[in-house]
Amino acid sequence: MWFILLLIAPCLAFHMQEPLPPARSSRLSPVEGWVQVRLNHFMAYDTRTYPMRYYYNNEFAGARGNLVIFVGGEWAISEGWTQAGLAYELAKKMGAGLFYTEHRFYGSSRPFADSALPNLSFLSIDQALADLAQFIQYIKSDDFEYGRFRNAKVALVGCSYAGTMATWMRLAYPHVVDAAFSDSGPLLAQENFPEYLEVVAEAIREQGGETCLNNIEEAMRQLVVLVNSTAGANQVSEMFKTCTPLQAGIPLDVATFFWYGITETFAGLVQGASPGDIPAACVKLNDTSVASHVQRLANYITSDSWNQPCIETRYTQVVANHRNTSFDAYESTSK
Ligand SMILES: *[C@@H]1O[C@H](CO)[C@@H](O)[C@H](O)[C@H]1NC(C)=O
Ligand SMILES: *[C@@H]1O[C@H](CO)[C@@H](O)[C@H](O)[C@H]1NC(C)=O
Ligand SMILES: *[C@@H]1O[C@H](CO)[C@@H](O)[C@H](O)[C@H]1NC(C)=O
Ligand SMILES: *[C@@H]1O[C@H](CO)[C@@H](O)[C@H](O)[C@H]1NC(C)=O
Repeated sequence: MWFILLLIAPCLAFHMQEPLPPARSSRLSPVEGWVQVRLNHFMAYDTRTYPMRYYYNNEFAGARGNLVIFVGGEWAISEGWTQAGLAYELAKKMGAGLFYTEHRFYGSSRPFADSALPNLSFLSIDQALADLAQFIQYIKSDDFEYGRFRNAKVALVGCSYAGTMATWMRLAYPHVVDAAFSDSGPLLAQENFPEYLEVVAEAIREQGGETCLNNIEEAMRQLVVLVNSTAGANQVSEMFKTCTPLQAGIPLDVATFFWYGITETFAGLVQGASPGDIPAACVKLNDTSVASHVQRLANYITSDSWNQPCIETRYTQVVANHRNTSFDAYESTSK
């Protein structure tokens, strides 16, 4: 019997950015592969398939031939996670073949030419889990490298939504998956989610200090007052380099500014953090040579690459961007 190491990866639930892989430690480049999986796993007469993408690193696949699968979520997969990180370390420990699977409708795993509404009925976690099951059965079959993984034990590693997938896989397909490691996988769908930002604040307190957190709080207090007037909103627009002037009289625009400009930036700082990122942000937020707390916040926010080239504050524009059904649209995957 083998078990999963409990290691902590920098990952929380629900954020929009793919976690960045750590610095590469593998000496090998992974192989990109494709497997035809069923479009609709739950309708026997629907025999359509689509190509699902994966990366494969066989650096550690030893005689025992176990499998570690890093599960992809709502983003395009990248080679980095088969060359370093938790799943990589686990594969090394287990002498396992390492795979990174791509979720249908994301990255290059596109069942259709676009994501128009009728096509979205095929985008569900049940279909995505069934994709994974079919993928694992294929990798363990004689069709993959002459059946070298025929008797493999299978461990899944997933982060955020993909952590949810790893958990449900173990429950829904216990005969296919032997162990699952879920890092911050949300299991309870919940409207609003204050616990998320509480964890973000805790991480900033731990790594950046209480003063840093207090400085953010003071800046936010002043910002809320500023955006309540046209003159203040204009000042904020300049400080934070919004794409167009923020409209104080449009509550949804003000909310969009706080959500995309501020909240998501801090969420990304914590969830996608590399060691040193939070202290570096706090150096700006603590900078007493800048008298205004709001200006300090602006100095940090505008330096974060997430907000380049400018902060979009128009709610209608954000909605229009999300309605774009092209797979190449900026909002079609997490970045
Ligand atoms: C997918 O959407 C396109 C429209 O963009 C449509 O032509 C096609 O029939 C849809 N496919 C399915 C299976 O609904
Ligand atoms: C915003 O402005 C309105 C009317 O000018 C005022 O009643 C309200 O107290 C202000 N809110 C804040 C947070 O300043
Ligand atoms: C400001 O942030 C830096 C980096 O986290 C930290 O070293 C420093 O102690 C903070 N300054 C204060 C006054 O807390
Ligand atoms: C949707 O996104 C694609 C790819 O970025 C872009 O070419 C297209 O112009 C966008 N469509 C609309 C309606 O904005």
